[in-house]
Amino acid sequence: MDVFEAIKKRRTIRRFKPDQVPLPVLQKLVEAARFAPSGGNLQPWEFIIVNDPGLLPDIFATLAWAGYIAPAGNPPEGKRPTAYIVALQNTAINPRTPVADLAAAIENILLQAVEEGLGTCWIGSVRREKLAEILSLPEGYVIDSVVALGYPDEKAVIEPYQGSVKYWRDEDGVFHVPKRSLAEIVHYNRFQKRG
Ligand SMILES: Cc1cc2nc3c(=O)[nH]c(=O)nc-3n(C[C@H](O)[C@H](O)[C@H](O)COP(=O)(O)O)c2cc1C
Repeated sequence: MDVFEAIKKRRTIRRFKPDQVPLPVLQKLVEAARFAPSGGNLQPWEFIIVNDPGLLPDIFATLAWAGYIAPAGNPPEGKRPTAYIVALQNTAINPRTPVADLAAAIENILLQAVEEGLGTCWIGSVRREKLAEILSLPEGYVIDSVVALGYPDEKAVIEPYQGSVKYWRDEDGVFHVPKRSLAEIVHYNRFQKRG
């Protein structure tokens, strides 16, 4: 798939089919993360792949979904993620730019997931203490965020921004995501004031 096509096709997905994601596919997503840029090439990331069906409900309970439409955005029973990739910052590496580094790695995961036919939700709203306990996380690691994954069971489309960034789900279950236009965000050669 063309990179720009994958970038445009990627949408946050919050309803998933029950099919398991094969482990080699999950490993490939972490492979994609590994090639990301990082400040000083310090690569301060580690990842926990969670695909044990017995653990999935515990992980799910630590996550918050679609704040603008909560609780309607919560994936209902039967449509929950079938795997997670928990992105960790290894603080022993003493990273210079950990937030940006982890974000670059996670975006690689999301884009590779498009290629694999998967849907993803990057989740920053995590009960980190609880999740660290579930994962037996040792000292020296910080949970950056969680990528929820699975085969998509909803349609999400972009919409032109019309004064609000709030996404919505319509009566047919289609998820609509406003995006600012190119004209609104780009400047040429020097900063141009908008009229
Ligand atoms: C750093 C970060 C944290 C996010 N945290 C959450 C979250 O906690 N829960 C959630 O449902 N979505 C979360 N999202 C997904 C955003 O809501 C989503 O990216 C945004 O609405 C735009 O939709 P799109 O991804 O389809 O372009 C997060 C996205 C990012 C980049």
